[in-house]
Amino acid sequence: MNLKLVYVSVLMFGVAGLLLFMYLQAWIEEQYTESGEKLHQQAIHQVFRVISTEELERITKTWITAEHLGISNKALKDSTHSQEDGSPFLGMPASLIPGLSEEPQKITLLLQPLKQVVVPPAMNKTFISDNSWKTMGETQEKRKSFLQNFCRKHVVSENRPQIHLVRMVSRIYVEDKHKLLYCEVPKAGCSNWKRVLIVLSGLAKSAANITHNAVHYGKHLKKLDSYDLKGIHMRLKTYTKVIFVRDPMERLVSAFRDKFEHPNSYYHPVFGKAIIKKYRLNAGREALTAGSGVTFKEFVKYLLDSHRPVGMDTHWEQINKLCYPCFINYDFIGKFETLEEDANYFLRLIGAPEGLVFPNFKDRHATDKRTNSEVVQQYLAEIPDKERQQTYDFYYLDYLMFNYTVPYAQP
Ligand SMILES: *[C@@H]1O[C@H](CO)[C@@H](O)[C@H](O)[C@H]1NC(C)=O
Ligand SMILES: *[C@@H]1O[C@H](CO)[C@@H](O)[C@H](O)[C@H]1NC(C)=O
Ligand SMILES: *[C@@H]1O[C@H](CO)[C@@H](O)[C@H](O)[C@H]1NC(C)=O
Repeated sequence: MNLKLVYVSVLMFGVAGLLLFMYLQAWIEEQYTESGEKLHQQAIHQVFRVISTEELERITKTWITAEHLGISNKALKDSTHSQEDGSPFLGMPASLIPGLSEEPQKITLLLQPLKQVVVPPAMNKTFISDNSWKTMGETQEKRKSFLQNFCRKHVVSENRPQIHLVRMVSRIYVEDKHKLLYCEVPKAGCSNWKRVLIVLSGLAKSAANITHNAVHYGKHLKKLDSYDLKGIHMRLKTYTKVIFVRDPMERLVSAFRDKFEHPNSYYHPVFGKAIIKKYRLNAGREALTAGSGVTFKEFVKYLLDSHRPVGMDTHWEQINKLCYPCFINYDFIGKFETLEEDANYFLRLIGAPEGLVFPNFKDRHATDKRTNSEVVQQYLAEIPDKERQQTYDFYYLDYLMFNYTVPYAQP
């Protein structure tokens, strides 16, 4: 065999191998995408609510698209929030929502009709013969049907929405032992909820021993988005899904007090600095370097700014963009206003150990007065009417979805 022939053969083998490799690679990718997409679609079908075609036809008013719940294609790709136009709804030009505050019922969001899936909650209601519990059960049914009606009436999408399931479930914590999914809403009892989840999972004996840092920075709890699509799908379908909400303005003021009225090594340098720099005239050098001492008025300016100098944060992000309550069919809707009552009822429903009672720790800034409506009024008094109204509008969907009374700045 001459050298030339050997050389050519080696070259041919190399090329053939490379071609085979490329072909296999493409094939594998295709398989993966196909099955991933299929699962994805199934999962969306499972979690979406139905809207009848008649209902769709009746809807002729202004639309909000799925995009306004923060689920546009673009939003999927860049995780940064994009509120460019100062309207209370993501991506909707302010010009499209004339007189929103006066005519809130015009809000309509289109969702395509999807097959109804009734997911039976894994809750044991056999013991609800007792009257005190019965009332709680009725309250739950009311809250759920209220939300369902809201979503049916207002949430519609003109096209198949490209909702990325993984993103939609990224705030949900998983407790596999009791088959629980808890969507975290900061400033609505979430620290104590996480303590309870840690106890339920068997990682701790009592909620009392779990420190604030262990709750928030420990790696005890898994998020739903850490599973593959099949795992997410299975859990959404079979687990009990729970969310706890709070009056939007109380939540906002509570977040402000927690993050800006106390030393904080993240919120002051990251948010405080940017806020003071943009909204405080003649800011002192010290305030500019430390970022401490942001006022509520400055904070609200930042919140409403269409060109925020720094992004949003889960503590003041709208609940509808954290937990997607029109897309994920929550089995239990708790309210911070009746936190312990709701939570203990829920714990009994899911068969939590007898001794486990929802804790009432206020572990940070324990000496501060709790943020209630009176405290909220004091903070809102610092804000001009127009901006106060815009702040209400900003949380408008949250108010409506959970039947909180929408306040108006002007009588
Ligand atoms: C539901 O609870 C009742 C009373 O606590 C109990 O007897 C029953 O076994 C439970 N059922 C299920 C399916 O867990
Ligand atoms: C909604 O809130 C109002 C006022 O607080 C209350 O009277 C009503 O019962 C609530 N509706 C539902 C379905 O929870
Ligand atoms: C939990 O804390 C209590 C007192 O606060 C203590 O008696 C108990 O030993 C602690 N348990 C564990 C497992 O650390």
